[in-house]
Amino acid sequence: MRSYLFANSQICVVILRKVKAIWKHSMATEKSKSTFPHFATDAIHAGQEPEQWKSMAVVPPISLATTFKQFAPAEHAGFEYSRSGNPTRVCLEKCIAATEGAKHGMCFSSGLATTMTITHLLQLGDHIVSMDDVYGGTNRLFRNTAPKMGLELSFVDCTNLDEVKKAMKPNTKMVWIETPTNPTMKLVDIEAVCKIARAASKDVFIVVDNTFMSSYFQRPLDFGADISMHSLTKYMNGHSDVVMGAAALNRDDLHEKLRFLQNAIGPVPSAFDCYLVNRGLKTLHVRMREHEKNGMAVAKFLESSSRVERVIYPGLPSHPQYELAKRQMKGFSGMVTFLIKGGLEQAKTFLGTVKIFTLAESLGGFESLCEHPGLQTHASVPADQRVVLGISDNLIRLSVGIEDLDDIIEDIDKALKAAIP
Ligand SMILES: Cc1ncc(COP(=O)(O)O)c(C=O)c1O
Repeated sequence: MRSYLFANSQICVVILRKVKAIWKHSMATEKSKSTFPHFATDAIHAGQEPEQWKSMAVVPPISLATTFKQFAPAEHAGFEYSRSGNPTRVCLEKCIAATEGAKHGMCFSSGLATTMTITHLLQLGDHIVSMDDVYGGTNRLFRNTAPKMGLELSFVDCTNLDEVKKAMKPNTKMVWIETPTNPTMKLVDIEAVCKIARAASKDVFIVVDNTFMSSYFQRPLDFGADISMHSLTKYMNGHSDVVMGAAALNRDDLHEKLRFLQNAIGPVPSAFDCYLVNRGLKTLHVRMREHEKNGMAVAKFLESSSRVERVIYPGLPSHPQYELAKRQMKGFSGMVTFLIKGGLEQAKTFLGTVKIFTLAESLGGFESLCEHPGLQTHASVPADQRVVLGISDNLIRLSVGIEDLDDIIEDIDKALKAAIP
């Protein structure tokens, strides 16, 4: 009798452990659609509940463990091995999902690792339609790896909806948009492209690279996109000290496949980096408002200068797609592109004279950066394609930071005068 009771109680313990493990796992992957009514509260609290830790830590701890103790073989508390899931990463993934108004958030070791993993959703013979003016690394990835994977690729000017219609084929499975584009700040009408893509092809999914706007100024899923993709390296982290990427999405089928690929391919970020991005996200709304304030002032100053040929900033009425910008975006960020009068020599003098702006690639950090896309970020785009895209020798890209505005303007003014005395 005693041994019978003992055996039964052992069975009960195992069942209880299983239930606990299933409950904990569901807590680790539960849906994260905006948890609070407003963005700032989501950025600060979503996925951060102290109750998830025994210690009740208000700030998520950095879980450096690569592996997690199991109750019994294959019975665990939601985590087995840090490639397939990590507690610090889950906090960040939930927070990113909430800021995008998405059900699922996923983090990868870089923006391009995110793009690469999403591309692995495709099968031999599938066709990609990509905006022609995309980040140079995205262009390089598609041009070099898509053909080797047996994928067809068409670069299309997605600002022209007729071109999108013409490019769609029955085997088009992925449409890749970047808006605003890097560096020429063209805008793509996300809603219109989604409608065209779905009408033309079954099982197509639409991805929007949302890096330039961050989830604070643009939410692609609200316009019908399937995946909002980020280089978190930029505004989302905002401190120029982490390389990481993310995908936010509502579709369970794509999420399941991407989770499989995230583990199967393995491009995952470290727990420490996840901690840093999670921390950076807490001030995204505050930083973006400052970036926009300074970006707008710089754009207006440049537009008023006789040393500048043209300014491209979606927040200016002179931007050819100003109306779309106001409809699709909630703000305009600190990314300002301009064409200095003259050519390469004047552009180089400007870039060599600025003091507050650092001549460096990347964007979206609190510090002001400047660069020459033709020679730096977009050097990998073939020269003839650069001409078509408008990436000329006198084109300069500014990532306007959140330093004092008067100092920023004075810096630009001095450099313009040095370039064109
Ligand atoms: C718009 C855009 N998308 C994607 C990427 C790639 O991101 P990462 O450098 O994090 O791989 C970048 C990088 O500059 C970018 O500017």
